[in-house]
Amino acid sequence: MVRALQKLAAAGAVVLAAVSLQPTTTASAAPAPVVGGTRAAQGEFPWMVRLSMGCGGSLITPQVVLTAAHCVSGSGANTSITATAGVVDLQSSSAIKVRSTKVLQAPGYTGQGKDWALIKLASPITSLPNLKIADTTAYNNGTFTVAGWGAAREGGGQQRYLLKANVPFVSDASCQAAYGSDLVPSDEICAGYSQGGVDTCQGDSGGPMFRKDNNGAWIQVGIVSWGEGCARPGFPGVYTEVSTFASAITSAAATL
Ligand code: ARG
Repeated sequence: MVRALQKLAAAGAVVLAAVSLQPTTTASAAPAPVVGGTRAAQGEFPWMVRLSMGCGGSLITPQVVLTAAHCVSGSGANTSITATAGVVDLQSSSAIKVRSTKVLQAPGYTGQGKDWALIKLASPITSLPNLKIADTTAYNNGTFTVAGWGAAREGGGQQRYLLKANVPFVSDASCQAAYGSDLVPSDEICAGYSQGGVDTCQGDSGGPMFRKDNNGAWIQVGIVSWGEGCARPGFPGVYTEVSTFASAITSAAATL
């Protein structure tokens, strides 16, 4: 149940932050992104989306955002979500803001594994490129990039500027050593340093974990899902394994 709590999106994270005060001894450290990252440049990850419930997402077609199932409450018509795109600064006057029309939560999602969802936008965003999703396991290795507007430290606040970091792949075996049966190895892929320090955190959920493919193009291999705290030694970040769900995602997106 403690681990289930780690899945709460930013709205929940605000509450968690309020009740779990962090020591201030690290306050002099430079603001770390994601946790342990740096500021993304404008246009560096043009398909990155911020969703108004406090999650990240990726533009996988001009009109469909891929996010996490735990960021949404079900499937059906939904005009309550605003997607902000095209900017690293969420307060920029050039931000593209589009409302949702529909949400599709992964079929069979009950809180363990299958952590993906689609959001249909009211109008296509044709001025931005889309992020390709991995449909084979070929890229489920190496070093990944993560990005988001979530907390820069465990218990910390949401960020105005997009932050990024790199994290190495962690095998199912070593991820299972950390998380036991909470991990669904067929549905999830882990990343992080054994010594911790760099990770996604609350409010990054739903955002992409990505790398370069053999043609040098960005490809999405993961969706920020959960972890024990953030950036703790011995506890990698857990991401939805996109290749497992690629065909379901692509066909669902086409019919949304
Ligand atoms: N579940 C969190 C969210 O809703 C993301 C947690 C990621 N945690 C981690 N240690 N990688 O924003």
